[in-house]
Amino acid sequence: MTLEEKAGQISQYFYLAGMSAQAEFVEAEVRSGRAGSLLFISDPAETNRLQRIAVEESRLGIPLLFGFDVIHGLRTIFPVPLGLAASWDPELVERVQGIAAREARAVGIHWAFAPMVDIARDPRWGRIVEGAGEDPYLGSQMAAAQVRGFQGDGIGTPDHIVAGPKHFLGYGAALGGRDYDEVNLSENELRNVYLPPFAAAVKAGAGNIMTSYVGTGGVPGAADRRLITDVLRGELGFEGFIVSDASSVVDLTTHGFAKDDLDAATRAIRAGLDMEMWFGLRFQEGMIPTPGVGAFATLPDAIRQGLVDEQRLDEAVRRVLLLKFRLGLFEQPYVDEGRAAKTLGLPEHREMARIAAERSAVLLRNIGSVLPLDRSAVRSIAVIGPLADDKQATLGPWAFAHDLEATVTLLEGMQRVAGSGVTVAYAPGVPVPTRVFPSPFAAMEQFVGDTSPQAALFDEEAEFSRAIELARTSDVVVLVLGEAADMNGEAASRSTLDLPGRQVELLEAVAATDTPVVLVLLSGRPLDLRRAIERTAAILVAWHPGSEGGLAVARVLFGEVAPGGKLPFSWPRSVGQVPLIYSHLRSHQPQTSMMRYWEEESTPLYPFGFGLTYGEVAYTNLCLHASAIGLDETLEIQVEVQNRSSRAIEEVAQLYLHQRYGRAARPVRELKAFQRVVLESGETRTLHFQLDAAARRYWSSAQNTSVLDASIFDVWVGGVSTASLHAEFTVQDSTGSFLSPTNKP
Ligand code: NOJ
Repeated sequence: MTLEEKAGQISQYFYLAGMSAQAEFVEAEVRSGRAGSLLFISDPAETNRLQRIAVEESRLGIPLLFGFDVIHGLRTIFPVPLGLAASWDPELVERVQGIAAREARAVGIHWAFAPMVDIARDPRWGRIVEGAGEDPYLGSQMAAAQVRGFQGDGIGTPDHIVAGPKHFLGYGAALGGRDYDEVNLSENELRNVYLPPFAAAVKAGAGNIMTSYVGTGGVPGAADRRLITDVLRGELGFEGFIVSDASSVVDLTTHGFAKDDLDAATRAIRAGLDMEMWFGLRFQEGMIPTPGVGAFATLPDAIRQGLVDEQRLDEAVRRVLLLKFRLGLFEQPYVDEGRAAKTLGLPEHREMARIAAERSAVLLRNIGSVLPLDRSAVRSIAVIGPLADDKQATLGPWAFAHDLEATVTLLEGMQRVAGSGVTVAYAPGVPVPTRVFPSPFAAMEQFVGDTSPQAALFDEEAEFSRAIELARTSDVVVLVLGEAADMNGEAASRSTLDLPGRQVELLEAVAATDTPVVLVLLSGRPLDLRRAIERTAAILVAWHPGSEGGLAVARVLFGEVAPGGKLPFSWPRSVGQVPLIYSHLRSHQPQTSMMRYWEEESTPLYPFGFGLTYGEVAYTNLCLHASAIGLDETLEIQVEVQNRSSRAIEEVAQLYLHQRYGRAARPVRELKAFQRVVLESGETRTLHFQLDAAARRYWSSAQNTSVLDASIFDVWVGGVSTASLHAEFTVQDSTGSFLSPTNKP
């Protein structure tokens, strides 16, 4: 291979079909062996056409690797990842991503830029929707499950694709929750909070990792040698290939880090980056974007000038080629174009989308048991709200190859599930709220379409009155409020958590009719519910529930299935509280921790792990197999959980741990285990948990390494992070003391 061909293998281009100049340019790069991978193509005929250029027209005939943002499905769209995390059901999530992989592979995609495993503790950050929320343990379970789902038994499993966990590292900690803003992480947060989901993904065998646009402490992710080479490769033992986020090697210069492309490429590859993801366009101020090469095109020069060791280049190329071999691309570079039609959107895929949406729903409030809706008492239902019939909001962000028409909105779901004895009428009330600054994804409407009721065609006052009148004359209101699809995801941060537009006004007017209000929230982040809560009889968080979302939510509302999801983050009262996490330190004056603001409680509105169901669940008989164990020993824990209601329900039993003292102060509680269980009416089950030494290990900033302390530990088990059922145990070191030598005063 020439140096140019080697640099080409590790250059990935966006293929922007809608932009002919860029597309032609990229095709020429493929033909000349200067591109090894493309992204953003989901049409199998196109994939084959481009693949043919690589295989038949380039000198070496090396097949292309096709990547895509398969975030929560391809044709069949599942709930957004934050919703999937709210299911607390890793097995389900594994199956979901297995289906996503199957659909993706059927159109010729080999690699998903997913899962996003960034911890997000500031819900203003729009990308909180793409991850599993605030907690490193839940995040790790979801990360590993998704990697298993995408990759099956390993890279090369038929009908599966390579997983690319992202964004390494710390992207979720952007200052002020502003996307793309700077990140500064302490070693304590980096190691104990942001790294564990990546460690879990690597352990599960992820074939790729994507670096972050931004970096920690002034070093952008694509060139952070300490993080990608020392930590990711050295400490976590990652053996796959590392790709940059979009254009972020060229952007090393934009960030004021690198001098120019040559410097950027040199420093990125020397830091350990293996592939550059590149837009294929240069944006010069005030000018039309023009096609151009990325920074890695300078690598041959960097080698000729002695800036980069050719062995480092070879290592990166070898990783990419090895992956292509393992995927079988040298034997079969093409996709069977007929298979796509037989695979995409299959009924069993859609059924899984419905089940996933049902299991993701979180019930926050249910006063007077208004839910489940009783068909004998409720004869007329007013479905109100701008998102109730918005297909795009039902799907959420990061859907590009879906079937918009086949998306079941909540209105359609209610009409289908209600049955003939119940009338379902609809009024949007207010238009779908819009952004002040349009989403950069709006330019992609060619992919996604836009079906939202157009504000311009909307007679606001007439529609508002019609909605109120409908509420007044109905037995119950199902009010569907929240965020439009482009209000979360990338470049969708917010400065408030308010219900956008006139939605609160609508809620207040609807509630003033005295018809009971069931509020269904479609969103990818917690919203400020202070003005909503007292005015509603029930609140169900549906997230952006996906292709079958409306049907799933309707089935939950009518009680065909009981809600069992739990919050994957602490739900703040107001934006002023964020970041707000359950696993905080005791810190100074713990007795005043709920009074840190003089004007409102500093507790969350709903705690992490919270979620109601249609019955009462009781936890009893928490037993530990020993009251004292050695440093390396595993503790066996059991608890009884009982369904005290007369219907089957699902519950997520959660186990939290606290270390009372040690080489660093530890959080008041940390999730260490959970199980989602089905409980028949009246059933009591004994659940078993194992708490091994790894569950107690943490990074101590004082020691600058990870440690296991001898200490006293508290355990709580229950259905929420504020569970009160408690036990304690002691961990002793080899001297039999429960104070390890380093803990002794
Ligand atoms: C930028 C995003 O940050 C990343 O998550 C995504 O995978 C790439 N663009 C490709 O679309």
